Amino acid sequence: MPEVDVQSQEIHHQDQHSEVFNPPAHISERAWVKSYNEYKNNYDASMDEQFYAGIAREFHWEKPFTQILDYNFSRKKGRVFVEWFKDGTTNVAYNCLDRNLNANRGDKIAFFYEGNEPTETNSITYKQLHEQVVDFSSVLRNMGVRRGHCVAIYMPMVVEIVVAMLACARIGAIHSVVFGGFSAESLANRILDSQARVLITTDGVFRGPKPVELKKCCDDACRIVNQQLTAGYNGIEKMVVYQRLGAEHLKLKEWVDGRDIWWHDAIKQIDRTIAPPAVEWMNAEDPLFMLYTSGSTGKPKGLVHTTGGYMVTAATTFKYVFDYHDQDIYFCTADCGWITGHTYLCYGPLLNGATSVLFEGIPTYPDESRCWRMIDRYNVTQFYTAPTAIRALMRFGDDKVTQTSTRNTLRILGSVGEPINPEAWMWYHRVVGNSNCAIVDTYWQTETGGIMITSQPGAVPTKPGSASVPFYGVVPAVMRKKSDQSEDLVLDNTDEQFKQDEFYEESQVEAEGYLVIKRPWPGLARTIYGDHGRYEETYFSMFDGYYATGDGCRRDKDGYYWLTGRIDDVLNVSGHRIGTAEVESALVGHKSIAEAAVVPMPHEIKGQGIYAYVTTKEGIVGDEALRAQLKSTVRVALGPIATPDVIHFTPSLPKTRSGKIMRRILRKIAEGLDSVSQLGDVSTLADPSVVDMLLKNK
Ligand code: WTA
Repeated sequence: MPEVDVQSQEIHHQDQHSEVFNPPAHISERAWVKSYNEYKNNYDASMDEQFYAGIAREFHWEKPFTQILDYNFSRKKGRVFVEWFKDGTTNVAYNCLDRNLNANRGDKIAFFYEGNEPTETNSITYKQLHEQVVDFSSVLRNMGVRRGHCVAIYMPMVVEIVVAMLACARIGAIHSVVFGGFSAESLANRILDSQARVLITTDGVFRGPKPVELKKCCDDACRIVNQQLTAGYNGIEKMVVYQRLGAEHLKLKEWVDGRDIWWHDAIKQIDRTIAPPAVEWMNAEDPLFMLYTSGSTGKPKGLVHTTGGYMVTAATTFKYVFDYHDQDIYFCTADCGWITGHTYLCYGPLLNGATSVLFEGIPTYPDESRCWRMIDRYNVTQFYTAPTAIRALMRFGDDKVTQTSTRNTLRILGSVGEPINPEAWMWYHRVVGNSNCAIVDTYWQTETGGIMITSQPGAVPTKPGSASVPFYGVVPAVMRKKSDQSEDLVLDNTDEQFKQDEFYEESQVEAEGYLVIKRPWPGLARTIYGDHGRYEETYFSMFDGYYATGDGCRRDKDGYYWLTGRIDDVLNVSGHRIGTAEVESALVGHKSIAEAAVVPMPHEIKGQGIYAYVTTKEGIVGDEALRAQLKSTVRVALGPIATPDVIHFTPSLPKTRSGKIMRRILRKIAEGLDSVSQLGDVSTLADPSVVDMLLKNK
């Protein structure tokens, strides 16, 4: 059982904005859903499973489904499972591409592409995308990839990453995209877990002014994989390398003949006298992809999303939350290495026949006005990004926005990944949106497949800092501790077992506690790859009969949800999930370190930073040199995003008599509290003097 601690995220509680913003009239007028009443009626209708069945039938099913939903959320009753549209067969890539060609969208632009340099621009129509996907599916097929096989993808944001994903989907292979910023070791662990035999990458990419050698990282990962082969698994047999940079920018250090092949050569080798592979009709509950994400314990887990349900959630949430209409131009800054890139860059938009902007670069290169200029250049109507990016760009001042662009075409501004603080919300609204756009703060998770809590732009009034109300089919509930009288919800169970019966589902509208979901929506991940027990344990053991999100929340008198952050040992750094256990394990991997404990700290831009307490081995002094070494150790093990912000050397860690680290105390010190009285009850510590030592060493 993970340790549980709801820490109140001060910034979100303190400056809770009281203002309510009604949907701008010009947005409501043209929106799919025009008023709160209409939203509420739809929501009530969505409590019946026929609601999603009706939407599902708008897509192509090779064999129509007759069963809609079957599930069990209670471990007490048996195996946890969720099945939507189970007896139907379909194909998500077919619905993303062929279905749009059939609807006369062949010449519509699927993506405007902009590379790292603003001068590198291109676009691709649905017809062209379809051709590329069919070709690449031939390549995969020639490499022996079949239905149910896993293919690893480690690429920057080029159109080819979408091509690779859809080509997998078309032939029923399961893609596993690994974020291109992860280390070779992280990539290797994910390859090993998924047993992928094909890896797709690029030679490299420029991120801002900096070249990144992706192929080299893949070579290193393959070496790690090859040291850990198991019976029946021979590691990566084929590596397809898309040439993004070419020899003038990057000399490849390694090329394994027989294993490595250039993307363009593989395409050339397709035998055009043979028909390309046919669309593979998948059962609704067959896996579409897996995506690794950090949990509170152990290694990242591969969450498995299936075909029919995920397709319906991706399409429906995209249409309503971004109020997408046929002429709109949508721009999502997410990378396909994360779930947002899967659902709201690739699948959701394509299932709606949308035109999107696909951006390889970063918002601060060549200058801090990059995104705003792009909004004007492409006449963007919806823009979707993360609070960390908003806060970072806000720091450069309003002029960077207002002097370089008008943003007149914008209607909807989205936010995702972490709670957005009201100050950033207001800036987004006032400066980026010219006080004329609807903001949608979208709460969801890798596990949920699509948006769970948000305001539909034409219908639901917004309160800065609140994600607001549930999306169709989503039934949230708040679990509260019976004995808890305090305002500040502290559920630290450091030395007692977490007890389910101490909690109850709050029936009053106003409530604070754990956010759980009471019944399945189509897009919920169905399992953890190769470990269904861990899936049940992680999401369904805390409260029997409920899906546990791992987040704390408050529900206000209007039924609006205010997310207060993770209640387990998962950090949210710049909107990216990092498990404290992963960072700790990297730190103790260093020969001088005996023990490590990692906790979040407030960070102005990143939301949370990483604060690491480490104890050195006997006779080793914690100095600046060791600090630098430790940071680099973590960077190499996990990737730059996991680098600790603070390394705090301490002779020992605060532990209970049963030997568990009391993270609550470590968190408070990392938050800047510096007197014993502010740290709460320390009487259960085996050695209370540790606390003084920690405070002294700060
Ligand atoms: C957090 C990202 C508050 C939350 C789509 C969740 C948010 C975790 C919001 C999932 C939001 C995401 N407001 N918190 N709008 N969006 N979170 O799996 O803690 O990368 O559990 O999915 O991010 O992160 P993940």
